[in-house]
Amino acid sequence: MPDERRLEIYLDHAATSPVRVEVQEAVCRAMSADFGNPSSLHRKGVAAERILSRTREAVARAIHADPREIVFTSGGTESNNLAIKGALRALPRRGKHIVTTAIEHPSVLAVLAELEDEGYRVTRLAPGREGVIACDDFRRHIAPDTVLVSIMMVNNEIGAIQPVEQIARLLAETRPAGPRPLLHVDAVQALGRIPLEGLSRIADLASFSGHKLGGPKGVGALFVRSGIALRPLLAGGGQEAGHRSGTQNVPGIAGMGLAVNLALSELSAASQTMGELRRRLIEEVLDSLKDARLNGPAATVSSGLPGEADRPAAAPHIVNFSFPGTPGEVLLHCLEDEGVYVATGAACSSHKRKTSHVLEAMGVEPGLADSSIRVSFGWCTSASEIDRFLAALFRAVTDLRRFTRR
Ligand SMILES: Cc1ncc(COP(=O)(O)O)c(C=O)c1O
Repeated sequence: MPDERRLEIYLDHAATSPVRVEVQEAVCRAMSADFGNPSSLHRKGVAAERILSRTREAVARAIHADPREIVFTSGGTESNNLAIKGALRALPRRGKHIVTTAIEHPSVLAVLAELEDEGYRVTRLAPGREGVIACDDFRRHIAPDTVLVSIMMVNNEIGAIQPVEQIARLLAETRPAGPRPLLHVDAVQALGRIPLEGLSRIADLASFSGHKLGGPKGVGALFVRSGIALRPLLAGGGQEAGHRSGTQNVPGIAGMGLAVNLALSELSAASQTMGELRRRLIEEVLDSLKDARLNGPAATVSSGLPGEADRPAAAPHIVNFSFPGTPGEVLLHCLEDEGVYVATGAACSSHKRKTSHVLEAMGVEPGLADSSIRVSFGWCTSASEIDRFLAALFRAVTDLRRFTRR
C-alpha cells in the first residue's frame, strides 16, 4: 500500500512550517535532560539559561543586534502586542498618532483598533495594486504628533516586501532634531526568508515567530533596541530583563534557536531555490490558465537589502493567485482531496470566511479576492512537488469551471 503521507504536498509554510527533525530532537532534549528553570541558580538552571543564550545569539545574529536586545515571547502575536502597547504605554505624552498599513497582520491591526478606543489616531495606508506602500504617501501622513510607525517587512498573504529601509530614512529626515517616531517592524514572514542584517540599524522594535521557519509553535522573539522603554504586558518575576515576566518556554526556545541557525545557514541557497520555484510557478500558471491573475509583485527578491529594491518585489516563499469563477475555498478543498495543502489567505482568518483585507486594500475586486489561493514554500519544498502541484491545480480549476459554468 502506498504511504499516503509521502504523497502529500504541503504548500502552506506561511501558515506554519513542518518542524524539522533536528528541531524536534532539540525540543525533546530541553524537556528531558535540560528541564531546569533558567532562573534557578544551580547547574540545571545554568544549563537551561545556556539554551536561552544560544537562541538569543542566533536571533540577534540574523539582524546584527546585540543578544541583550532580544526578548522571548509566545510568538509573533505577543511580540506585536508587546512592541506596540508596551512602547506606547512607556511614552504616554510623546504623541497620539500612529501610522500603519491596511495590510498588516490582525495582531497589529486589532491592537491599533484597541488603541483608537483609548484616544490614539491611527492612519492606515493603503498599498498600490501590487501590495506595496508608496513612500510618498507615507511621508505625507507623518504628523508632528506621530509617535509610532508599525509596518510589516513581508506581507503574509501576497509576499510583498515593504520599503522599510526607505521608511526608516524618511523618519530620520522628518524630525532631525526632536525624537523621531518609533519604528516597529513585523518581520515574522521575513526571518529566514530574506536577508535581515540591516534590520537592527533601522528598526526600534521587530517581531519574530518560531513556527514559520521549521521551529515549534508558541515561541517568538521581539527585538527591543537598547534604550527603548517598554511597559510590560505581564506583571510577575521580571524575566527577560523585565520586559516579559513568566518562566521562559525553554523547549520552544531551544527549537527556535536551532531552526533560526539552520535557516540562516541555508538562506542564500534556499532563497535562490524558492525564488526559482516561485518564478516558474507564476510563469506556468499565467501561461496555462489565461484568465488567472497574480496578486502581488511578480518580481522575487532573493538577495540584497530588503526594501532597497526600486520596483515592487516579493519574498521568495509566497505567491497568491486568483482564478475567476473558482471560489478559493472550494479550490482549496479540491486540492486537499489530491493531498495538496494551500491556503485561501491568512491562516488565522481563514475560519472567519471574510474577504481578505489585504486583497481588498489592494483594490482587488471582491469576486477575484474570493477566488484566490496562497501557495507558500519552505525548507522542504522541492521542484517535483511544484510540478505535481501544477498538475493538480490545472485539473482542479478545469473541473471546477466545467461545473460552475454549466
Ligand atoms: C506577518 C505575521 N505577523 C504575525 C503573525 C503571528 O505570529 P504567531 O502565529 O506566532 O502568533 C503571523 C502569523 O501568521 C504573520 O504572518
